[in-house]
Amino acid sequence: FRVPTLTRRAFIASAAALSAGAMLPLQSSARAAGIREFRLRAKHGRAQIAPEPYGDTAVWCYDGKLPGPEIRVRKGERLRIAVENALGEETTVHWHGVRVPNAMDGVPHLTQAPVAPGETFTYEFDAVDAGTFWYHPHQRSFEQVGRGLYGPLIVEEVDPVRVDRDVTWVLSDWRLTKTAEMRDDFGSRHDMMHNGRVGNTVTINGRVPDVFAVRKGERIRLRLINAANARISGLDFGSHAPVVIALDGQAVEPHAPEGGLVVLGPAMRADIILDMAADAGSRVSVIDRFYKDLEYRLVDLAYDDQPLRDTVPDWPVALPPNPLPEPDLASAARHEVTFNGGMMGAMVMQEMGGSMGDGSSGAMGGMMGSMGGMMNMMHSGGIWFINGVAAEGHIMDPMLTLARDKSHVIAMTNATAWHHPIHLHGHSFRVISRDGKPTRHREWQDTVLMSPRERVEIAFVADNPGDWMLHCHVLEHQAAGMMGVFRVA
Ligand code: C2O
Ligand code: CU
Repeated sequence: FRVPTLTRRAFIASAAALSAGAMLPLQSSARAAGIREFRLRAKHGRAQIAPEPYGDTAVWCYDGKLPGPEIRVRKGERLRIAVENALGEETTVHWHGVRVPNAMDGVPHLTQAPVAPGETFTYEFDAVDAGTFWYHPHQRSFEQVGRGLYGPLIVEEVDPVRVDRDVTWVLSDWRLTKTAEMRDDFGSRHDMMHNGRVGNTVTINGRVPDVFAVRKGERIRLRLINAANARISGLDFGSHAPVVIALDGQAVEPHAPEGGLVVLGPAMRADIILDMAADAGSRVSVIDRFYKDLEYRLVDLAYDDQPLRDTVPDWPVALPPNPLPEPDLASAARHEVTFNGGMMGAMVMQEMGGSMGDGSSGAMGGMMGSMGGMMNMMHSGGIWFINGVAAEGHIMDPMLTLARDKSHVIAMTNATAWHHPIHLHGHSFRVISRDGKPTRHREWQDTVLMSPRERVEIAFVADNPGDWMLHCHVLEHQAAGMMGVFRVA
């Protein structure tokens, strides 16, 4: 039997711990309760977006940074974020993908009054899920996000997968003039009717990238966030085979991306594991191949001359799942949602007309939707429609009411000639089928990219009461009518 003795080193450590403990009552009680406090100031600023010798560009951003500061917490912590509006117009902040209580969702006129210039609004919610999320305004977002208001929100797992570096890339694009000024044609009718405001300058973390320095043998967890208004990215990492471990913040069975491309519609995220397997001193290009005739080199992975290790590590990569309620497909209530509109809408109408005879109520609904849509378009300038309604302004009656704590399947039909990343607030959903075929990974997402004419089924338990947005995250489409509200009650 021996009395444990403290080494001098351990003694100093425990004395320090003690005195830190003794100081606790003097600190804010928030800290003691595990609340993490942050401040964000939305204001005008300037940022070096284009490479020198171009000058900097006028932007709107948080805390003078582009992207806004990375908010990083641990799963289970509570966040308290005071947002100060130093812009010249109203704003809010939406915590994209985070399952927050309705009053904290940041949708003006639906979940809160907009924050007036000079005012501060404090958001508070628990980080219930680990994962890669982001924040952005929900007020005139086609312009506020388009000018640079967004930032990453990272919730670390209690037991994260082992990597050498955890890196966040916020992807965005800009429409700049030849002198690197921001073109201020936000919300143009042409952008609204076509594929949105796709820019001419792509950035990683607010800068046109040149190289990204890596070392042979290094393992990186790359958190990709597409913060662009409208640009869809499909990243090809060349000889580096990425392993997707999370989509929209939610763990997925680790897999190689389909077709080799990591595809991210606006607002979507992917966490990938990248092993740096090339030789020291080499360069490997990352190419965006989503738009086949518009491929471009995003950045080069530039290998240092000194390897970190000779072979890539074989540490496990699977992430622990978040506590998401599993939908029961057998008992789920079914709902149909059809998206119409845009250029070539008339062609779609003809198709819908052609399918009238089959008696499918979905097609009928879509058809009537198109007709109603055409009428609305003439009256209001609405361009895009959900179940025949082009949302206008901020008055939104729920288009769907979902019984609380019940399972729901929403069958969504993209009856347009365009891609749409469809986002649901307050919930993550499983993508269970595409064009009638079950998906391989039944991935959890909060934003699902729908191809032209595609039909996608999603399933989830509506466990978060309140009125929530459902909208296209091409922000020009959203502004031109492609949004609606569903009620969980
Ligand atoms: Cu990322 Cu309704 O938004
Ligand atoms: Cu859209």
